Amino acid sequence: MSAAAGSPSAASGPVRLVVLISGSGSNLQAVIDASARSRYADDSLPARVVAVFSNQPGAYGLVRADDAGVMAIPIPKKKDEDRREYDARLAEQVAKYRPDWVLLAGWMRILSSAFLDRFPGRVINLHPALPGTFPGTHAIQRAFEAFQKGEVDHTGVMVHLVPDEGVDCGPVLGQEVVPILPDDTLETLEARIHEVEHKLLVDTLRKVFGEKESRE
Ligand code: GRF
Repeated sequence: MSAAAGSPSAASGPVRLVVLISGSGSNLQAVIDASARSRYADDSLPARVVAVFSNQPGAYGLVRADDAGVMAIPIPKKKDEDRREYDARLAEQVAKYRPDWVLLAGWMRILSSAFLDRFPGRVINLHPALPGTFPGTHAIQRAFEAFQKGEVDHTGVMVHLVPDEGVDCGPVLGQEVVPILPDDTLETLEARIHEVEHKLLVDTLRKVFGEKESRE
């Protein structure tokens, strides 16, 4: 997968990125947009999204991918398939695109080792909360509820590696605190977190891809 593992991509072009989504895909869009910018722009990303997979066939992120000329592939779990069978089938399809990295951007399934072992050390997740806080779904809503109870005055965003089946944990690659303001509603907090996510995700990927290149 990496250049060391035989992929020709790192030596000869931008980092090959496969993105897994389940929904709107606004973070996917941020990555696609940054990848399309001139390599000399400060906010560009030296990457190419080579395919986008969604377990939800109706996910708007697939439309975004298609609009950007990126392979958009729905891959719902079959009724008679167990979790590991699905993960293995997904990994098989993803591997066809020879990704240097696999990015989970709003991917709402926990991946088992049947997937992760195909891409060791090469799966990155985005989570709308700080390390060790609010793992799992509805993280922003739960942070907002904790704020209303006076338990927290901030939340945040993190980007991390996915070494195993742990939920929203793993070596942290990037994080940013997002204060919760007295007049915030869930909607205003969500909007501010998504804005931070879009930038933190691209900035963190740029750093990670740069480190990878400088090692090679
Ligand atoms: C993001 O908040 C992401 O952190 C979370 O799900 C949301 C996906 O948003 N895991 P989008 O699909 O990228 O718009």
